[in-house]
Amino acid sequence: MTKKDMKKILVTGAVGQIGSEITMELRKRYGNDNVLATGRKTKPRKTLRDSGPFEFIDITKKETVEKVIKEYDIDTIYNMAAILSAVGEERPIVCWNVNINGMYNILELAHEYEMTRVFVPSSIAAFGPETPRTNTPQETVLKPKTMYGVTKVAGELLGDYYFKRFGLDIRGVRYPGIVSSETLPGGGTTDYAVEIFYEAIKNKKYTCFVKKDTVLPMMYMPDCIKGTINLMEADISKLKHHCDFNMASMSFSAGELAAEIKKHIPEFKCIYKPDFRQAIADTWPQSIDDSAARKEWGWKPTYDLPSMTKDMLKKLGKRHKEGKL
Ligand code: SER
Repeated sequence: MTKKDMKKILVTGAVGQIGSEITMELRKRYGNDNVLATGRKTKPRKTLRDSGPFEFIDITKKETVEKVIKEYDIDTIYNMAAILSAVGEERPIVCWNVNINGMYNILELAHEYEMTRVFVPSSIAAFGPETPRTNTPQETVLKPKTMYGVTKVAGELLGDYYFKRFGLDIRGVRYPGIVSSETLPGGGTTDYAVEIFYEAIKNKKYTCFVKKDTVLPMMYMPDCIKGTINLMEADISKLKHHCDFNMASMSFSAGELAAEIKKHIPEFKCIYKPDFRQAIADTWPQSIDDSAARKEWGWKPTYDLPSMTKDMLKKLGKRHKEGKL
């Protein structure tokens, strides 16, 4: 078996919202011992810790990443460690440091150790108020107004640079807001679309931090995982883009989401108290044109708002009954 056929995967940010679920799926596909989960501070949940290797690293400290790359003979990286948009506005320097300097360390090490492949996520936050807000094109204005968005645009450019300059096989998508039932997101603008489900189950009411008519592109976690891994497994000769694929699934307003939940929990009440995150949401697109992803690597989402809502409420309802929510 050549090095290219092997898969020894490092997941950074593996305790986070997407990292925790993608690690479990990668372990299922490639074998538990072949997927190293890493985090910076937060303790991993039992399922993550018991199903395969886990190490603490800090991507802003290159030597901590290099150590595990050597120790585990890593050939593939999913760099899921990041500071999200809302926290990024509160702590812009930390956001730059993790999302850019941290990513730079990952790219340098991937180049140095001749990695087979690297995944680096971008986001709808790469767009800004000058971007067309509906059916946002693949190629368009990238002038974000948040530090998070700035790091995402720079990250896309940096990734494409490493591909062109050094031949590093690096891939990435612009994630919409991700709705999930396992790990809560940490400090993003789209977090309301996750919190609302937890609160609907636990308290039958939710105070939403964006206005009722705020529409953003969203995606359910199973589609996010499927899309991410499919892109990583795609034939490189078919890819014209690398680190900046638009990737869409569904778009809905906060009010439409609340109404969908109400179909299952009639007593549910949602009130709206916009905070600073409203201004961030107002600079992001409402819907995305992802035809490049569909054409180049066969992207196709499965879930829509009704099927996602049904599944979320089923999963969280079960955990609530077991006293685990
Ligand atoms: N979910 C992210 C955020 O809200 C967007 O990429 O910050």
